[in-house]
Amino acid sequence: MKIAIVIYSNTGKTEAVAKRVQASLSSSHDITIEKIIIKDEKPFETSKISFDYVPDLEKYDALIFGAPVWAFRLTHVMKQFFERNPKLEDKPVAVYAMQGLPWAIFGGNRAIRTFKKYCKNAESCISAGIVSEKGHKKEVKFNRVVSNLIDFVRHVEKSHV
Ligand SMILES: Cc1cc2nc3c(=O)[nH]c(=O)nc-3n(C[C@H](O)[C@H](O)[C@H](O)COP(=O)(O)O)c2cc1C
Repeated sequence: MKIAIVIYSNTGKTEAVAKRVQASLSSSHDITIEKIIIKDEKPFETSKISFDYVPDLEKYDALIFGAPVWAFRLTHVMKQFFERNPKLEDKPVAVYAMQGLPWAIFGGNRAIRTFKKYCKNAESCISAGIVSEKGHKKEVKFNRVVSNLIDFVRHVEKSHV
């Protein structure tokens, strides 16, 4: 089973979660980190961005999406990626959000809702949670999201044999 972790990560925090999941499962699972790459150097200064690389999702059996919160919502880079209508049908999906502030009300909750809206055509879509850069529970949150994503991968592998 081929699984992709599709991320947009401007400063590497969203990517750190993906790398941890990939490293934890690399001996037993086929997991590729697919990074959405954009042309603009300052994506937060422009509302319409152009892509340098978007992954082809058709070759994967299950998908994980991760992206940061910008301005209290899911980054518009990820939104514009979804607006290109990537094929999610029949695929199990898990999502996670990365944010700077320690409280989910500062964008994380809203980002997860947006992810779920874009993934409504998937076979299923679960939230693995929200990671925060700040706050005394940041490591707990990081580890919880990583662990939820590992469980997701193991679960989909088991149910698709
Ligand atoms: C333009 C911009 C807007 C942001 N807005 C928020 C916000 O509303 N709430 C929040 O908690 N963090 C916000 N952040 C912080 C990012 O979500 C945080 O730094 C995240 O870890 C970045 O992930 P990345 O390293 O994968 O790009 C913002 C960051 C940027 C660059």
